[in-house]
Order: sequence, then C-alpha cells, then structure tokens
Amino acid sequence: MHKAEDLYQDRKDNRILDNFDGDYGYPLLGKTVSLVKDPYSLMQDHYQRYGPISRMALVTGQRTLLMLGPEFNEAILFDREGNFSSAMGYRANLGHFYEGGLLLKDGDDHKKLRRATQPAFKTDSLRGYVEMMQPIQASHIENMPVATEFTFFPRIKETLLDVASHVFVGLNIYGKDAKRLNKNFVAISDGLVTALPYPIPFSPFWKAQRARNQLRDFFERRINRRRKDDKQDIFTQVTKAQTEKGEFLSDGDVSGHMSFLLFAAHDTTTSTLMNMMYYLGKNRKWQEKLREEVFTISKDNLEYEDLNKMTNTELVFKETLRLNPSVMMLGRRSIKETEIAGYKIPADTHLTLGLCYVHRMSEWWDEPLMFDPNRFEEARGEDKRHPYCYTPFGGGAHKCIGMHFALMNARIFIHQILKKYKITIDENYEPKFQYFPMPMASDGLRIRLDKI
Ligand code: HEM
Repeated sequence: MHKAEDLYQDRKDNRILDNFDGDYGYPLLGKTVSLVKDPYSLMQDHYQRYGPISRMALVTGQRTLLMLGPEFNEAILFDREGNFSSAMGYRANLGHFYEGGLLLKDGDDHKKLRRATQPAFKTDSLRGYVEMMQPIQASHIENMPVATEFTFFPRIKETLLDVASHVFVGLNIYGKDAKRLNKNFVAISDGLVTALPYPIPFSPFWKAQRARNQLRDFFERRINRRRKDDKQDIFTQVTKAQTEKGEFLSDGDVSGHMSFLLFAAHDTTTSTLMNMMYYLGKNRKWQEKLREEVFTISKDNLEYEDLNKMTNTELVFKETLRLNPSVMMLGRRSIKETEIAGYKIPADTHLTLGLCYVHRMSEWWDEPLMFDPNRFEEARGEDKRHPYCYTPFGGGAHKCIGMHFALMNARIFIHQILKKYKITIDENYEPKFQYFPMPMASDGLRIRLDKI
C-alpha cells in the first residue's frame, strides 16, 4: 500500500476542482468564516445547493472537496486499496506541531507505530488506568464549588490535564514537571488555531513552536530512564514498545507519538464532558436515570469490571457525540485518481469528510435534532442503519486508538459527580455554541452543583 509514498508526499495539492459544483467563498478566507461560525449551516447549504460532493476553499487557500454522506465516510476511512493519505489530509493544520503523530503517518509507517503502541490501550492497561485516574477525578470533583453557579470549563480542563500528566506521563500532579508539561501543552493548543501561522517573536504561533520543542525534549530526555522503570503510565509503556522486528521505537517516534496522544485525548474529552454536563443539566430524567445506575453499583470507587454496568451512561455519551462530535470533520488527500459513488476524484485532492453533518442527516436518524439517547439501544439501533453513519471516532486504520479510554474517563467522571451532586442548569439559559476548535458552550457553561 502507498507504494509511491515518497512521491505523493512531495506533490502539491490538486487545485483544479472547477468541474465539481460548489463555491470557493471569499478570496483569501474561502469559506472559513461561515465554517467556523456554524459548520452545520454551511454543510446544509452545500448539500442542498450542490449535492453530496462540492468544492470549497479554506483560509490557507487550501481547496477541498466537502463530502457529505456515510458512503464517502466508508470508502475513504475504510480505504480498502490505500488510495487516501491521512498525513497529507492533516499536514497543513497539524504538521507544524504534531509531526510523528499517528494521524500524520500513512501505510507501513503508521502500522508500525500503531501496532507497537496498541498494548497500552488494551484491557489490562485500561484496568490500571482506572485506579490511576479515579482518585484525581474524585479530588477535583470534591473541590468544585457547591450551591452556587460557576463556569464548568476551567474546572474540567484542569481535571483532565491532571489526569493526563499522571496517566499518560506518570507524573506527580503536584510536581513542577506536571505544571511545566501542562503549560507547554496549553501553549501548543493556543498557537494551533491562529490566523497568523508564522513564527513572529512572542506571537501564539511562536510560543507554540517553543512549547513543542520543550515538550519533545521533555519526553526524549526521559526515554532511557523509563525503559528501566516499572511504572504503568502510557509514556512508560510506549518507551518499551517494540516493533515486529523486536526493536524499540526511535526517540523521535516516542516523543512525536506522545505529544500527539496528549493533543488527541485532551480537548476531545473536555468537549465531550462539557456537553454531557449540558445535556444532563437540561434533561432531568436522564440525569436521574444515570444517578440510579450509579447508585445501583453502590461502590465509592469503580473497578474496571464495573464500567460496563453503566449502560445508560454509554447511551448518553453516544448521543452527546452524535449531536456534537468533538472532531467535526476529518481530512484526507487522495493519492491517485479514484471513483466513489460514481464521482471521479482526481489525484492529490484534499478531502473534507463532514461527519458532524452525517450525524444529523434525516435520511439516517429519526428526529435528528432531538436529544434521544435511546436511539442507540439495541432494539432501535439507529446507528446501525449504515456502518458509517455514526463515526465520532472515525473508522478504518486511523480509528481512534483512545475510544475505550475516552468512554472509561467519562464513566468514571459521571460516577463520581452524580453520586455526590445534583446538576442544575437554569431553564432559561441557552448558551451560544462554538464549534472550533471543539464544539461546546462558548461561555464555558454555567452550572450549579448541589450536594445530595
Ligand atoms: C471523546 C473523545 C474522543 C473523540 C471524539 C476522538 C475522535 C477521534 C477521531 C474522529 C479520530 C479519527 C481521525 C481521522 O481518522 O482523521 C481519532 C483518532 C485518534 N485518536 Fe481520538 N478521540 C477521542 C479521544 C481520544 C483519546 C482519549 C485518545 C488517547 C488516549 C485519542 C487518541 C487518538 C489517536 C492517537 C488517533 C489517531 C489514530 C491513528 O491515526 O491511528 N483519542 N480520534
């Protein structure tokens, strides 16, 4: 697969898309402003005016084909013949900071890193992470303000940064290293989405580049020591991971992989938990249902085996990610000319899969705008109407490696918070929603917790 690898990576994007219907948008900005403001309306507009495939342009001048439908998700993510590159789909956006991450690798290179690190995401490892993350979440939740309204975002962000420094990197969350790691990580996120991606001294982009170098250095300086350590965190496991030939991963692979893992895990889970809190605050019945589930387990702390008992929590998690998938669109680039659903896609063409739109298509979902977790129950199984109509974690070779980790994190959080507090969101409060970099209430979500 990807035999012409060195060649396709050197080629420029195909910009000749004029034989597709669509609209590039404004000079320089393309369609970015409407996309950032409301991707659903933009995609709906394109779908109605131009059909399931249409051309558009983005802020960097990048031209792309917007693809709206499960058949495109399937053909491109499953990618039976190796026709699509993930690395080239994300290079323009993520390449500056996350070179060496799994999504920026294709073919055998990707397979090697993914296989070697898969054990860190298998059941035995996950079992250990439950023990590591639960006390951190419990202590943050214990310290949240009670009987007064507060903004949830900074609280959940801090909680998850601490979980990451301990579970991903094996650090003491009260130590200097954890603080430095969190600071660098936040600086990269701040510089990633910027209108000026140039290293102008002291600009967010410049700071992010400096933070990226420090983060990589941080990992690389510790690799040898960790290989001799018996810690259970993900970083230690990745340092010991071996390829099929029995070789350790290179230092660059370890640090690139770890930096990307932190990135891929953090904002996605933050946005999911923010949105779950929103829906539970707005839907008292579901909040009560989940609390009953939590009390049925009747334990202060969960063990790994208890997680699967939280089936209603899983339904709410799924419905939250249907309505607001943390990753709203996926990127790829075609390697050679190929045909999908009767459309000829030229080689080297950037493709945007609008998975958030597919999650709300009335062709696939009953009353798609309604919050209705039961649609995922076995008997209704709306997500089974097409194998690729529900793809919050992607699909195929690049399917999210942290999918089970994310659900585990959410279940532990819900267990800890619902057994202690009632969540209230003012009936008249309808926060404005932002969609980028992640979908969530743009004011950070105002909630109130009361002890039960
Ligand atoms: C609710 C939380 C999460 C969501 C919605 C999410 C979503 C996704 C999606 C859609 C992809 C596929 C991207 C593509 O094919 O273009 C992906 C890939 C990935 N995710 Fe997640 N993710 C979440 C949490 C996590 C966590 C917790 C981790 C790590 C522990 C993680 C690590 C990764 C990695 C490494 C990849 C790239 C996999 C590869 O290229 O082989 N994600 N994620």
